[in-house]
Amino acid sequence: MPEADQEGQRYAPDQPQATPGFYLKGSHQLDWGMKNRLARVFDPASGRTVMLAVDHGYFQGPTTGLERIDLSIVPLLPSCDALFCTRGILRSVIPAHCQKPMVLRASGGPSILRDELSDEQIAMDMDDAVRLNAAGVGIQVFIGGEHETRSVHNMTRLVDAGLRAGVPVMGITAVGKTMVRDAKYFRLACRIIAELGAQYVKTYFVEDGFETVTASCPVPIVMAGGKKLAELEALTMAYNAVQQGAAGVDMGRNIFQSEAPQAMIAAVAAVVHKNMTPKEAFELFNSLKRRAAAVSEVVRTANTG
Ligand code: R5P
Repeated sequence: MPEADQEGQRYAPDQPQATPGFYLKGSHQLDWGMKNRLARVFDPASGRTVMLAVDHGYFQGPTTGLERIDLSIVPLLPSCDALFCTRGILRSVIPAHCQKPMVLRASGGPSILRDELSDEQIAMDMDDAVRLNAAGVGIQVFIGGEHETRSVHNMTRLVDAGLRAGVPVMGITAVGKTMVRDAKYFRLACRIIAELGAQYVKTYFVEDGFETVTASCPVPIVMAGGKKLAELEALTMAYNAVQQGAAGVDMGRNIFQSEAPQAMIAAVAAVVHKNMTPKEAFELFNSLKRRAAAVSEVVRTANTG
């Protein structure tokens, strides 16, 4: 067994990796179909994406804000760049005329009732992702978790299937409850996921050193939102992530658990695609929230009058 090296220090975050011939980091040597699917998710104008993550039910059941995806999420579809959902929700709830790209959850296994969530398997054939016209698939990778090797192997099998079909794989850094969420851990996890073939990586933001996580990962990183924060805090986190090299977000609870989800996704999109500052985006959120409340009041008065 080779002696473990010290982790390097030369991340050079101010020298972005060259992207000759295609705008997405590390994607220029992929095949046409793969690039085309990536271009549906990552806006070619900004090079970034606002993915709306609503896959939580695959292990949590009807999560707060997702009790009725037809009522809470379908109205938000026009405002996201892509939806991250399960194939069950796609077939049962998402209208097939929807033109938004769909990225499908492809792993599953233990429910929230179990302590050890890393015991996952591949939970969808690539054939079905193609049949559903998916723009990509996503899978958890539990680096340092009890079932680390299996989850890595799940991802590499999915990557092989994705390369045959031209479907990009989003590898997701899944962090055990007791593990430290710092830049050192995420550099390790994101880099392993990219080295083993994922076309992009979803990971959490860390306050200290996030730019080293993005700089040392040769493919795009999208930021996961995590638990619900105050809106200004969530917008600040998204802003810091994209300013420090993330190619967008895949956020769920901070959007659909907001008191004004439509206003929140618009504010997140302004941060991601227009580099709007957190303060300006929060003002946008508040003004859209006020406008939505005024419209509801007019409708309520009309219906009761
Ligand atoms: C991913 O692993 C989860 O299933 C969600 O997609 C992810 O946590 C993003 O959602 P949230 O922003 O609510 O954390």
